[in-house]
Order: sequence, then C-alpha cells, then structure tokens
Amino acid sequence: MAETLTITDNRTGRQYEVPIQDGTIKATDLRQIKVAPDEFGLMTYDPAFMNTANCKSRITYIDGDKGVLLYRGYPIEQLAEQSDFLETASLILSGELPLQKQHDDWTRQVTLHTMLHTNIAKLMEGFRHDAHPMGMFISTVGALSTFYPDAKEIFSPESRRLQTIRLIAKLPSIAAYAFRHSIGRPFNQPDNDLTYAGNFLSMLFRMTELKYQPNPVLERAMEVLFILHADHEQNCSTTTMRTIGSSHADPYSALAGAAAALYGPLHGGANEAVLRMLHEIGSINHIPAFIKRVKAGEGRLMGFGHRVYKSYDPRAKIIKKMADLVFDATGKNPLLEMALELERIALEDEYFVSRKLYPNVDFYSGLIYQAMGFPVDMFPVLFAIPRTAGWIAQWEEMLNDPDQKIARPRQIYLGSGPRNYVPREKRK
Ligand code: ACO
Repeated sequence: MAETLTITDNRTGRQYEVPIQDGTIKATDLRQIKVAPDEFGLMTYDPAFMNTANCKSRITYIDGDKGVLLYRGYPIEQLAEQSDFLETASLILSGELPLQKQHDDWTRQVTLHTMLHTNIAKLMEGFRHDAHPMGMFISTVGALSTFYPDAKEIFSPESRRLQTIRLIAKLPSIAAYAFRHSIGRPFNQPDNDLTYAGNFLSMLFRMTELKYQPNPVLERAMEVLFILHADHEQNCSTTTMRTIGSSHADPYSALAGAAAALYGPLHGGANEAVLRMLHEIGSINHIPAFIKRVKAGEGRLMGFGHRVYKSYDPRAKIIKKMADLVFDATGKNPLLEMALELERIALEDEYFVSRKLYPNVDFYSGLIYQAMGFPVDMFPVLFAIPRTAGWIAQWEEMLNDPDQKIARPRQIYLGSGPRNYVPREKRK
C-alpha cells in the first residue's frame, strides 16, 4: 500500500492525503490546502533549509549520527587509505571507480590542461600585493568563463567534460599563482612528470632547483586532504553551485559563486578561524576562560559543530591520525597541544556534549596546512581545489534531473501593505 500522510485542516475541517516518497512529502502537494479557492495555498517555512531536501542525489551519503561519509557508496576511510585525488574525483564525477585505461586517460587529460592562458596570469598580476588569495581565486575562476565561451554549451556532454577537465586541471595552478603573488615570488609552471598533489606542491614551493622533488609524506597528506574535501552533499557552497547553475549560467560563473560561499568563516573559512582562535587564546592556561566565554554566547569554538554530523566528523578522525605523520616530517605545530587540550575539555563539557558539538574537518586541517608552510589565507583555497570535483558532479546531476527548475524560493511577506508615494518635501 502506498504510504500517505493524512492532514486535517481545522480551519475548514477538510482532510487531505499527501503521498510519502523516500521519507519526504512534496512541499507543492500542500498547495491544495487552502480556505478560499483564490488563495495561494499552504507553504512550508524553512529558513536555511533545516528540513528540506532540495534535490535527489546519488553522489554522497552522510549519516550524521553515526559519523558515516560515503562517496558513491565507498567509505571515506577506504578512499583516504587506498585512493588518490584524481581517482576519487573520477569516482565522484562518473559514479564508478575508473578502470585502469579510463584512469590513465583522465589523468593524462587533466595533466595536459594545467597551464594557464598568459592573460589569466596577467589578470592575476593586477591584484594588490596583499590581496587575499581566496579573493584572487574567486575572481579568476569567474574570469575563466570569458576565456572559454564554449562553456555556455551546458547541455552538451562533450563541452561539460572539457570544462570539467579544465577546472580540475587549472584550479591548482590558479591557487598556486595566488599564493606566489601574495608572497612576491614568480609563478612556477606546472610539472607534468609529477602527481596532481606533487605538481601542486611544486607550483607552490619550488625555488631555484631545476626539478622539485615533493616530500612523499607531504605529497600523500595533500592527496588525502584533497580526498576528504572532495564532496559533502548539499552544504552551503554546493547549494550555491546548484542554485546559480539552475539559471543555466556557465560552470565557471557558478563555481566562482560556490567558492565565494565557501569563503565564509562558518563554512570553508573555519580552519582559518580555528588558527586565529588558537592564537587569540595564546596558551593552555587561558583555555578554561575561553570556554567560559563561548558558553556565555560570546563567540564560538571554531572547528566544532556541524549542521549534519552530531558525532565525531569521520574526516576529522582521519586528519587527526595523519597529523602525526605530517608533524614527523615538518616538526610539530606549537598550536597542536592547545588544540588537543581544547578538544579534551570541550568533549567533557556538558554545554558541548548536550548540543552534540564535536570537532569537524576544520579543527585539525589548519594545523597541518600551517605545518606544511601555508599561510592561513590559503586555507579556503586549499578546500576549494578538491571541492571542485563535488561542485561539478552536483551541478551536472542538477542539469540532468528532470525535476529541477530555476531555484526560486518563496517568502512570507511581513512588510507594509500598499501605500502612496509621498514627495520628499512633504515627508514627515
Ligand atoms: N561553539 C559554540 N557553540 C556552538 C557551536 C560552536 N562551534 N556550534 C553550535 N553551537 C551552539 C549554538 O550556539 C546553539 O546553541 P543554542 O541551542 O543554545 O542556541 C547550538 O549549538 C546549535 O547551533 P546552530 O548554530 O543552530 O547549529 P547550525 O547547524 O546552524 O550550525 C555550524 C552549524 C555553522 C557549523 C556551527 O556549529 C558553527 O558555527 N561552528 C563553528 C564554525 C565551523 O567550525 N564551521 C565549519 C563547519 S564544517 C565545514 O564547513 C567544512
């Protein structure tokens, strides 16, 4: 028997049967519920989409209570252990782990597209010397749409494939350029002999040596961090990507918007905020006073809490383990002890326990990035590079979904009723 929800409208005494499918009811099925025939009908009110599914998706699954994260069904722990970023990106984009030949072809295509048009480089040179790299990144990704007008062919699978390769290939180059610009050093051209992560490290850190050899521990750490950040279902930036894409804008414009959403301190800017917070706290002795202030509502414990995870974020667990390997290679980050103590105290404190606030992916990632030599301004950029795989996959899924239309929420209007314009000299 089909599952339904019976609703009684006590304004009219009428009853309605609303179908339940996949654990949801369709919000538009409520529109039939009205008192007078010329009324608009019942709507739902759900600021910040706290309980509204905006799409059907087959990409990423999260069980927030159990701390489970799957990409296309594969557990994040197995991918972080055994895969590399390009393979994981291919999985997220296509739905299946690639066969060897598909993987080789994909890797070759991405490697062939890593160079930037010289005018993109010139555009980036125009930024002030102290420009925030994420601001440079967002603007330059948006500018890519003017370099690749064929990207407007969003319903052509071949065009989408080409833009996907360009984005996955060029964003590390743009990120590296932004970094080199901000430290006043010349840009390093990509090195096609290196892996995706190795080439990125080379573009960032190569100095005068003819051949840059990435430290294998840091190269692997970069791959793992990229895998952990590759997708996370309908978060703020992904929803932005889908929303902009729903107007049929090209993927570069949509992705610039998604990256802008990621920039905020409540989303991708959180690990930058974690380090600033640790610096502000200053020493282990000041932690109890800091926790007291957080509990009094005077600020948040950054890197803690998540809209979906109500237990330990599985990505944070992997990162915490990886931190030891990285610190063996780079030397310990002096802020680590403070972070560990902060976590220990918070996990025992009733305020955090009762609200199910646990460390999220950003609590430890900043410490690793800093130990690897990244300034905090680069953190959101490091997040945006791998998330590009998820953004594109979600955008394509939205375009191919017959249920989707241009995103256009409703509102509850509480403003003034109609009134007549009063000339300025007559206003009181
Ligand atoms: N520190 C202190 N209190 C917190 C925190 C925190 N980090 N996070 C949530 N709370 C409290 C809120 O004050 C609220 O308490 P109340 O019920 O007494 O009012 C309760 O917990 C619920 O919080 P909400 O803000 O309603 O939770 P929401 O799901 O909207 O927020 C968010 C999720 C934005 C991640 C939040 O936990 C937060 O601001 N965390 C810090 C920023 C951060 O680390 N962001 C990274 C997220 S992961 C990512 O984007 C990759």
